[in-house]
Amino acid sequence: MAPAVPELNLVLLGPPGAGKGTQADRLRDDFKLAHISTGDMLRGHVAQGTELGLSAKGFMDRGELVPDSVIIDMITERIAEADARDGFLLDGFPRTRAQADALARALGDSGRRLTAVVLVDVPDDVVVRRLSGRRVCVKNASHIYHVELDPPKHEEVCDQDGARLTQRDDDREDTIRRRLEVYHDQTAPLIDYYEELGTLRRFDGSRPVEEVHDHIRATLATLRLEESM
Ligand code: AP5
Ligand code: MG
Repeated sequence: MAPAVPELNLVLLGPPGAGKGTQADRLRDDFKLAHISTGDMLRGHVAQGTELGLSAKGFMDRGELVPDSVIIDMITERIAEADARDGFLLDGFPRTRAQADALARALGDSGRRLTAVVLVDVPDDVVVRRLSGRRVCVKNASHIYHVELDPPKHEEVCDQDGARLTQRDDDREDTIRRRLEVYHDQTAPLIDYYEELGTLRRFDGSRPVEEVHDHIRATLATLRLEESM
């Protein structure tokens, strides 16, 4: 018999600045999912000065991908942790075909599968505008703002916990351009891959934050209902 509330194992796919983190912060609360952001995990390692952080920082500052071997180990361990066993929201992973294959293997080995891949898509010119104005809470990286598009109530202060807001090291225009190239070259091919598997759901990320959220939430609620039948 299917469990009363079937697990939602989700991937958020999309270019830099599409709003993956912004939407993940909302969807995590809606569906009680573990939000697993590879970018936030890597920045945590950089801040703590771990060996992994030291080796990842150069790639991140240049807008390149961190090598698959490092990322795959980090994520396969993370999705097996207790808080992710009832469902997770992967934000920024997979980003290559090797990562997608590793995810499918890790889930298959534990009798699980991906429920859906949520593609949040925006054109490149929107990305540059969004990332150059982004501000992030120093205390909790999932509290995300934009100086014009989604400003905090008080300048440079997080609405949710009063901590200082900061800019990410890789939100410089030249690095943003490189991140976009890397996305189109190495990550966008996953769109066709998941489309063929029948797991892809597309959303227009250039709509206002709450509109995008409403669309994704409604689709996921329907999916969960279907899974429970
Ligand atoms: P990562 O941290 O994952 O960065 P990213 O994919 O480039 O995406 P961002 O976090 O920049 O954008 P987002 O889509 O989350 O947008 P957000 O919600 O913040 O990765 C960073 C680096 O780590 C990579 O370059 C790589 O080096 C490494 N890395 C990470 N994962 C890896 C992997 N799997 N393999 C290898 N390397 C990896 O929103 C952006 C802005 O827009 C905000 O200001 C927000 O307020 C605003 N905004 C959001 N939605 C809207 C909206 N609908 N309307 C108006 N404004 C909006
Ligand atoms: Mg993000």
